[in-house]
Amino acid sequence: MQQQGPTALIRVQVLVQNTVMTLRPTPIDTFARAEPRDRLGRPVRDLRISLLDRCNYRCPYCMPETTFHADYKFLQRDARLDYGEIVRLATIAAKLGVTKLRLTGGEPLLDKNVPELVASLRRVPGIDDLALTTNGTLLANYAEALAAAGLDRVTVSLDSLDEQLFRQMSGNRGDLKSVLQGIEAAEAAGLQPIKINTVVQRGVNDHNVLDVLDHFRGTGHTVRLIEFMDVGNRNGWRLDQVVASRELRDKITARWPLEPVNPDYVGEVASRYRYSDGAGEVGFISSVTEPFCGDCSRARLSADGVLYTCLFATAGMSLRDPLRSGASDAELEELMRNCWLQRQDRYSELRGNETPTEYPLRKVEMYRMGG
Ligand code: GTP
Ligand code: 5AD
Ligand code: SF4
Ligand code: SF4
Repeated sequence: MQQQGPTALIRVQVLVQNTVMTLRPTPIDTFARAEPRDRLGRPVRDLRISLLDRCNYRCPYCMPETTFHADYKFLQRDARLDYGEIVRLATIAAKLGVTKLRLTGGEPLLDKNVPELVASLRRVPGIDDLALTTNGTLLANYAEALAAAGLDRVTVSLDSLDEQLFRQMSGNRGDLKSVLQGIEAAEAAGLQPIKINTVVQRGVNDHNVLDVLDHFRGTGHTVRLIEFMDVGNRNGWRLDQVVASRELRDKITARWPLEPVNPDYVGEVASRYRYSDGAGEVGFISSVTEPFCGDCSRARLSADGVLYTCLFATAGMSLRDPLRSGASDAELEELMRNCWLQRQDRYSELRGNETPTEYPLRKVEMYRMGG
């Protein structure tokens, strides 16, 4: 079934040149084809899988209550990929170069069978990092089962340590204590390194940032401060609510001197710094003021099986439809490959100084495609 495109032919020629001792020709389709590079030369390494578009929070910057009210129509179960379908697509993605999987949502732990999915994804050949992003509320219930199933680590969203502000930033749904218990449970279960994602908004929680850092200094958990982004169309994004990472770094350095740390891997989203006093690390995710599209190797698979090649995409490619119409693995691989080969996204770099609220196209919402 595998098509023999130019990449496959080139590979064979190289192999023939290098393999002087080959006695008889090997059929072309027994060679793995080269991993695809997009139009800007970037490989695909990281697949983020959104398990469902629902969440038990209503963070105003992501799922404001005014839109996501009781009558809002979320995806029904049969519209969502089932575990078998997810594992099949993840296995194909791994053949194209993906080594890292991240389960997201919405809130992935609203799906109580996630450990079962984790156990299957753990067995996908080529995956060396299996992570989950959660708001942490239900984490204490699942941490042990997730670790036993083979999850490597968790990232927990936490915007403030002020109980009232925390609650407000979760759309009056969240309970800070349960999140902190969730983090403790994750630590006890060995789901480390634990990262804490804090979205910073001017006039909302920027005055609380040092408290969050102080709380996690010395724990081994790394807080990453995220610039408020213009994802989706509904969060009322304004440039004046973005606190540039540069400004935060200066503020932090004045209290706890910082030293830059080299990235862990090519294309790491966060710029890493360590506290000079040895109390651990802090990261900055500066999508607005210091875009990092150049090395972006992330693809996103929505709960209903659409593949997106950028967090700010306005459209994606459905894999669910061909999958449910009986496409073979080779055909699905070809679809994914071609989708990646055509990719030229670099939204954050192109955004420049324009006002993204004037962006003419409707972007897909972040809770839908997975953060
Ligand atoms: P590690 O694997 O631990 O390095 O995490 P990660 O870099 O995959 O980060 P994580 O999934 O925790 O992402 C943190 C946040 O960074 C997301 O929630 C987004 O807000 C932002 N982010 C992640 N990936 C992208 C991206 O491709 N583009 C943009 N603009 N922002 C991103
Ligand atoms: N800007 C920056 N980060 C965001 N997140 C959700 N919406 C935004 C936004 N508009 C973050 C959440 C969570 C992760 C999944 O994405 O806080 O950490
Ligand atoms: Fe839910 Fe996370 Fe979105 Fe908040 S940011 S509404 S916790 S998916
Ligand atoms: Fe990648 Fe798009 Fe984010 Fe740029 S804006 S880093 S291309 S997801």
